[in-house]
Amino acid sequence: MPNVPAPIDVTQTPEWKALEKHFEAMRSFSLKQAFADDPDRVRKLSFDLGSLHFDLSKNLVTDETIADLVALGKAAGVESRFSDMVHGVHINTTEDRAVLHTALRRPASDEGKLIVDGQDTVKDVHEVLDRMYAFADRVRSGEWRGVTGKAIETVVSIGIGGSDLGPVMVYEALKSLPRAVDVRYVSNIDPNDAAEKLKGLDPETTLVIVVSKTFTTLETLTNAREVKAWLLDTLKAQGAIDGGEAAAADAIRHHFVAVSTNLEKVEEFGIDPANAFGFWSWVGGRYSVDAAVGLSLIVAYGKDVFEDFLAGFHEVDEYFATTPLEKNVVALMGLVNVWYVNFYKAKSHAVLPYDQYLHRFPAYLQQLTMESNGKSTRWDGTPVTTETGEIFWGEAGTNGQHAFYQLIHQGTQMIPADFIAFVNTPNPFKDGEQDVHELFLGNYLAQTKALAFGKTADEVRAEGTAEWMVPARVFSGNRPTTSIFGTELNAHTLGNLIALYEHITFVEGTVWGLDSYDQWGVELGKQLAKQITPAFHDDEALSGQDASTKALIDFYRKNRR
Ligand code: F6P
Repeated sequence: MPNVPAPIDVTQTPEWKALEKHFEAMRSFSLKQAFADDPDRVRKLSFDLGSLHFDLSKNLVTDETIADLVALGKAAGVESRFSDMVHGVHINTTEDRAVLHTALRRPASDEGKLIVDGQDTVKDVHEVLDRMYAFADRVRSGEWRGVTGKAIETVVSIGIGGSDLGPVMVYEALKSLPRAVDVRYVSNIDPNDAAEKLKGLDPETTLVIVVSKTFTTLETLTNAREVKAWLLDTLKAQGAIDGGEAAAADAIRHHFVAVSTNLEKVEEFGIDPANAFGFWSWVGGRYSVDAAVGLSLIVAYGKDVFEDFLAGFHEVDEYFATTPLEKNVVALMGLVNVWYVNFYKAKSHAVLPYDQYLHRFPAYLQQLTMESNGKSTRWDGTPVTTETGEIFWGEAGTNGQHAFYQLIHQGTQMIPADFIAFVNTPNPFKDGEQDVHELFLGNYLAQTKALAFGKTADEVRAEGTAEWMVPARVFSGNRPTTSIFGTELNAHTLGNLIALYEHITFVEGTVWGLDSYDQWGVELGKQLAKQITPAFHDDEALSGQDASTKALIDFYRKNRR
């Protein structure tokens, strides 16, 4: 194992024992009572980070909970491990790699200050950024031309997981800004995805970005070949190029660029390495939207927006690194999540953005959090000692209210939830006298209030409800939420939000002793898919399968048209 300290078993520490004892006392905790008892509660549990305001007061915590959780975080080494991380220690032990996504957003003035494994990381980052900005400018200005001399109107970005979820989420989140080109994102290996995304596109004005850290990912390479075939076939059919190999290679040079750490494979695919943008093994896929993986965003929104995005990340990195844990809302949110997972046995965590532009944010967070912390083994290879990795999920705005909130309000599970909203909207609208954004924000506030304070049987009775129906209309309250309120959603605040959840994930992973930066759990399925696929046609391959897989393939064979 690389030279990093072994994780401690947090469950055996005095800090954990203190929390166990405190948890017993908290069984009778009531948010309603806590608010009544302490007029200072909201102030004590409110925080500001840049233009984001955080209210943690509707969580099941007291001063003692926070003090005990902070002590646990310190005992688990949250501060020292973060320092190791940002200084390039190989904390990704199973892959023996540094974990340096924070270097991606350091300013150019930091060049020379972070030499890791012989590499001036910040200098390298800015070299690639400068190349990306120059390339994006050429596309945006119309200087970059397709093979027939036409300017680019649409980008098709092909990638999956970390090479897709971040860019597509950010592209959607910033859609209120002007953009130079439209981007369509293709990820699923299901040919339906590419087929739908290519509909109506003219290859002469389309630029394809193939995004893959490894450039070996089955889905991405298959989709890239499919889009390549579409591009060449359509160009030929339109009479734009002849059928020769030289014309095809020329068309690929004009219409395909790549983002990868594996530049040899990029060249093998036929993409000119001069049109490839690299990043490094120390950037995990799910931590890479601020690396070259964000190229489509720069092409769409421009350099200034991307710089603002990076500055938003950096602001949170600096805050997290320099703010004492007891005042550090990023650390506290991670520690409070541990409190719910390990003591209240919460199995999931909802993230509920009250902003339609953030509609892909929960999907993005699912990879970030669950690929990072969905693990049963610690960073030294020993088994975990407590529950890890809650399920993150969510939906934007009031849509969720009309779908799954019933379970959050009255179900038998506790589901901590983060509610995110912004004071200002780019699309104000008045419905008569009613400002609709205020109506929306009224819902944002109403939900956390209902979850925290509920509705008693007496209150239900006072509405004249028949006695037998009273229990069905009671809201227990005491259901924990965190409110995040920003002044507006923009590239900077989006960078803030992503870095916030990156570090929340780090805090939870550190307490649990996890290497949050590997993802071995996705490998077996990939291997088996390779082994199973021939069995659709090959009897010998079929005979090697288990009974269930065989039966399912038999069904396929019988029904295939
Ligand atoms: O799902 C596994 C995974 O390795 C992710 O971690 C990664 O983001 C995704 O596949 C895509 O990988 P690549 O960028 O190498 O194509």
